[in-house]
Amino acid sequence: MSNKATIELDGKKYEFPVVVGTENEVAIEIKSLRADTGGLITLDPGYKNTGSCKSAITFLNGEKGILRYRGYSIEELADKASFLEVAYLLIFGELPTQEQLDKLYKDIKKESHVDEEMKKILDGFPKSAHPMGVLSSLTSALIAFNPSAVNVDSDEEMYNAIIKLLAKFPVLVAWTLRKKNGQPLDYGDSSLGYVDNILKMMFKSPHEEHYDLDPVVSSALNKLLILHADHEQNCSTSTVRIVGSSHAGLFASISAGISALWGPLHGGANQAVIEMLENIKQDGGDSKKYMGKAKDKEDPFRLMGFGHRVYKNFDPRAKIIKKSADQVLEQLGVEDPVLDIAKGLEKEALEDSYFVDRKLYPNVDFYSGIIYRALGIPTEMFTVMFALGRLPGWIAQWREMRLEKEPIGRPRQVYTGENLREFKDISKR
Ligand code: ACO
Repeated sequence: MSNKATIELDGKKYEFPVVVGTENEVAIEIKSLRADTGGLITLDPGYKNTGSCKSAITFLNGEKGILRYRGYSIEELADKASFLEVAYLLIFGELPTQEQLDKLYKDIKKESHVDEEMKKILDGFPKSAHPMGVLSSLTSALIAFNPSAVNVDSDEEMYNAIIKLLAKFPVLVAWTLRKKNGQPLDYGDSSLGYVDNILKMMFKSPHEEHYDLDPVVSSALNKLLILHADHEQNCSTSTVRIVGSSHAGLFASISAGISALWGPLHGGANQAVIEMLENIKQDGGDSKKYMGKAKDKEDPFRLMGFGHRVYKNFDPRAKIIKKSADQVLEQLGVEDPVLDIAKGLEKEALEDSYFVDRKLYPNVDFYSGIIYRALGIPTEMFTVMFALGRLPGWIAQWREMRLEKEPIGRPRQVYTGENLREFKDISKR
């Protein structure tokens, strides 16, 4: 392959270097485009063809349905690793030794208190507040209680900031749920592992002396968190990187990422899928009607949990989750009629030319809500669980962006508004 690409405009030729990644992904580097051409820019709404950075964290190939964290396949990690091992891998680049993992968790436990004053902020929210709004606000509020700026050139300061977030975020997640359920806000149990502790913080009811952990629930949550842990330059991760590029701190950047994740076209799809399946069930289970609505261009309805910006073959996470949904529901003895509706919709869509032609397949969120529901997690908390899983990915991407000293993210535009015009006094308008 040529190592230069040529752009020709008005008879003049401009050459730009071609960059090749370790998986032979090819990009034209246009860093000098404006300067070389006297003002030319590229236009790519939604960044469908634009690489915003080089990254060594996650590789995915949407055509082949491949997803790897730091070179390890998602299938193997979901099967064999713990969420905390994956968090270490994403953030620091290698799978931890037992000693490194023990140290990580020991450091996390030491930082797992959240200032009592934070409870006052949580109390200010009405019970009806959406948990994603609460989580984003609480994460941002953490800055006020941990005000020191992080010197990213210091390994120690960077490490401490990351530990604080990995430690306090699960507490905020649990408190968000407990507040919704009107339960007292507890701290964790340092004798438990990271994921088990999260479950206990979320679900131990005040009258129970012991919380009985169900290994099926624990293993299912571990898997879901791993599957959500990173996904290269998606909407929320790009948000984290762009907010962080202004040198706003880690907590502020993550808080922005949570807001971006909330939308139904992104992480909020897991809640939207269950609501859609419930609607179909209440409407008599006529999935054909909803397939018709999804295909009707006059109708804003979309089949939630279907389609993906990058996966055009299948979403490897959806494959793992679908299998897991069957197993978890069976092991827990849960019968959920919406699982059958979901399977029916998937079957119909995979045979329908509208979906086939547009390469629309179930994404990670099509079946994840069904598992969360079987684990006893309320629908409005699904996207919060996604955020919990995505936290190490956001941290890893933020860290990489700061260590690489990336410039502030600031796209350009093609202006289509009015040309210069004269101000008219209000009486003459
Ligand atoms: N139902 C019906 N039609 C769809 C769907 C859907 N879920 N998704 C895409 N399409 C159609 C579009 O109408 C469009 O059709 P057209 O070419 O005739 O105009 C075509 O497929 C391409 O869709 P775009 O919106 O251009 O694709 P884009 O890459 O911009 O969007 C997205 C991807 C946002 C995921 C989209 O597929 C969608 O809205 N899906 C439903 C929401 C969802 O499940 N989001 C979760 C994604 S995974 C995640 O973020 C964790």
